[in-house]
Amino acid sequence: MNVQLPEITAEEQAQLQELYKAFAAAHMTPLWTQIGGLMPVTPQPDAVPMLWRWSTLLPLAERAGELVPVGRGGERRAIALANPGLPGTPYATPTLWAAIQYLGPREEAPAHRHTQTAFRFVVDGEGVWTNVESDPVAMRRGDLLLTPSMHFHEHHNTTDHPMAWIDGLDIPLVRQLDAGFFEFGPDELGTRETPAVSRNERLWAHPGLTPIGAPPPKASPLMAYRWEHTDAALAAQLELEEEGHSGVVEPGHAVVRFTNPATAGDCLSTIRCEMHRLRAGARTAVTRTAGSSVWQVFEGSGLVRVGDERYEVGKGDLFAVPSWAALSLTTETGLDAFRFGDDPVFEALGLSRVHREELPQ
Ligand SMILES: [Fe+2]
Repeated sequence: MNVQLPEITAEEQAQLQELYKAFAAAHMTPLWTQIGGLMPVTPQPDAVPMLWRWSTLLPLAERAGELVPVGRGGERRAIALANPGLPGTPYATPTLWAAIQYLGPREEAPAHRHTQTAFRFVVDGEGVWTNVESDPVAMRRGDLLLTPSMHFHEHHNTTDHPMAWIDGLDIPLVRQLDAGFFEFGPDELGTRETPAVSRNERLWAHPGLTPIGAPPPKASPLMAYRWEHTDAALAAQLELEEEGHSGVVEPGHAVVRFTNPATAGDCLSTIRCEMHRLRAGARTAVTRTAGSSVWQVFEGSGLVRVGDERYEVGKGDLFAVPSWAALSLTTETGLDAFRFGDDPVFEALGLSRVHREELPQ
């Protein structure tokens, strides 16, 4: 958008240049030279569509496991997915951090807590427990594990084999808001117990049943969303569709959102987490969403279109969807994909927008 200024004389031009110099000296910037960038007609993200292949990430994480110790100071052996449109930052999108974290046999990552909100999603493997506020939470394939803001957390691998998973956090958002606070916990693990079921699940993981005696939670009181539940919920949606009943978001496309059982709102205050299942042969509508997201293929394969990019994706592959980029997925074989996005922030601020293009018949 350009502001059309009337024709001016050379003398007026010189006066204007003096004015701009005076603005600069006074640390002022006129809106009329900036408005196109400050107020675009639609979002103009610096972040670009980007694909990271699991077959690239995992061997590099394994190599880091051989060369880089984990412990106090560095805290975590996590390697962030850096969007090339955000050079100089370790950010997948302007609001989301995504990383592969790798914990070797018998390794321990010490306790800390921070205002940044986090989750782990396990594409494969088991054997690590994440202790959240000293409540040991098993990490297994397909599980979503939460670490809400200011909850102490530590990880320990109880096995003789390594484990990798993805971490998602709101680090870029918290950095932009200058809201970051961080505290170290004890150097020694708070607990070495390895129960199959954590205390928070024993209290909160019963469908539709709220424990009346539990203290009012500040964040989601449930730290683990187990694959068996996610899988069954998605399978049921597709079965109901076959039987002629409602439940899927569009033909052949089942979705569940991970929610806080105390409020039914998003499981995390700043990050939305969902699992999508496309049946074989399905394709989604083309959607544009205000806000950014990162997806990881959990099972199956498909073709993803993000903006002008097309990606053939398979198990473990991750891709970033910048704000307002057109997104669609198709699959011949069937596809399960985990999605996380900054939707709760956009909703809280009244900035949500979704545009859905109807499929050509
Ligand atoms: Fe952390």
